This record gives sequence, C-alpha cells and structure tokens, in this order.
Amino acid sequence: MKKIAVIYKSKYGATGRYARWLAEELGAELFEKSQVPASALGEFDLILYGGGVYAGELRGVKFLYKSRCRNIVLFTVGLEDPEKISYAHMEEKIHNTKGLERSKIFHLRGAMDFNRLQWLDKKIIGWVMKGQKNPTEMAEVETMIAPENKIDFVKKEKLAPIIEYVKNENNW
Ligand SMILES: Cc1cc2nc3c(=O)[nH]c(=O)nc-3n(C[C@H](O)[C@H](O)[C@H](O)COP(=O)(O)O)c2cc1C
Repeated sequence: MKKIAVIYKSKYGATGRYARWLAEELGAELFEKSQVPASALGEFDLILYGGGVYAGELRGVKFLYKSRCRNIVLFTVGLEDPEKISYAHMEEKIHNTKGLERSKIFHLRGAMDFNRLQWLDKKIIGWVMKGQKNPTEMAEVETMIAPENKIDFVKKEKLAPIIEYVKNENNW
C-alpha cells in the first residue's frame, strides 16, 4: 500500500472541504499545513497539496521544497473559472520552484462569502472587481458583492480528475 498525504491551507474553508473529501476518497492522511510535522514529509509516497489562490498565487506551497517525496500533486482553489482563464504564469512559477519541478497541477473553483471576509480582503476584492471587464465575470462578481450574497462553486464531483490521476499509480 502506498502512503499518501493530503495537506492543505485554507483561509475561508473552501480548500479544506476539498481536502477532506480527497483524503477520504484516497484513504490518505489529512493535515492542515501548519500541523504537518517536518519529519512526516519524508514518509509519503505521494503528497497532495491544496491551497487557495490569492492574488494569482497558490498560497503556502513553497514549504514543499523540504519534502523528500518528489511525487507531488497540487490543487489550486480559486474563484475564477479555470476553463476561461490561463494559469500558465502560476504553473510556470511553481515548476521553477525547488522541489516542485515535476509536480502535477489541477485547478478547482472555490467559494466566497463577501460578508465574512476580513476587512482588508474585502477592500482588495472590491478593487479587483472594479477592474474586471469580462461580462460573465461581472455577473458573478455582482452576485458576490451584493450584501447578502455569497458564491460557492465547491462540489465533490470536481475532484474526479484528481482521484482518477492518483488511483493510476503509473501517473506518478
Ligand atoms: C484577497 C483575495 C484575493 C483573491 N485572489 C484571487 C485570485 O487571484 N484568483 C482567484 O481565482 N481567486 C482569488 N480569490 C478567491 C479565493 O481564491 C477563493 O475565495 C477561494 O475559495 C479561497 O480558498 P480558501 O477558502 O480555501 O482560502 C481571492 C480572494 C481574496 C479574499
């Protein structure tokens, strides 16, 4: 039996929901990033790491350079639709990071409850959204910014490609 770890960092919970489902489906050990002992990083045959996308970056991913395991699957959780935007810049940056050269990357959509954001995050989102020009994105954004509204794209089914990838050990 291969040993698999799912590690995540989630500011508002969306990545955490995906990480728990993934760990369950794969029979993997689940860790919140701040709680994974450095010594444990050498024990796994495969590490999956998930984090929220903040300002175009995958949050918290760099610590993986410490890992002795070089089979790494990353999943990003952002609000933007991965079918409509390019993640090439982020992927290039990740693949240029020590230890992550060979990592496989998946992109998932997250959630946002505008009223629950910390005040600085609220301000940043307000500024970002004013700069959006694409009408489809604008519609989503207006829903999000309207006071009582939230947006939630988190769905268990979206994990299917990751589960399929991991279950075929020839992939890694
Ligand atoms: C300050 C801020 C910046 C964000 N930047 C991006 C971004 O660049 N691209 C994106 O797709 N989503 C962005 N988001 C949306 C988050 O990625 C989304 O809410 C995600 O579900 C967060 O995951 P978490 O709850 O696990 O932290 C941003 C959210 C905040 C609050």
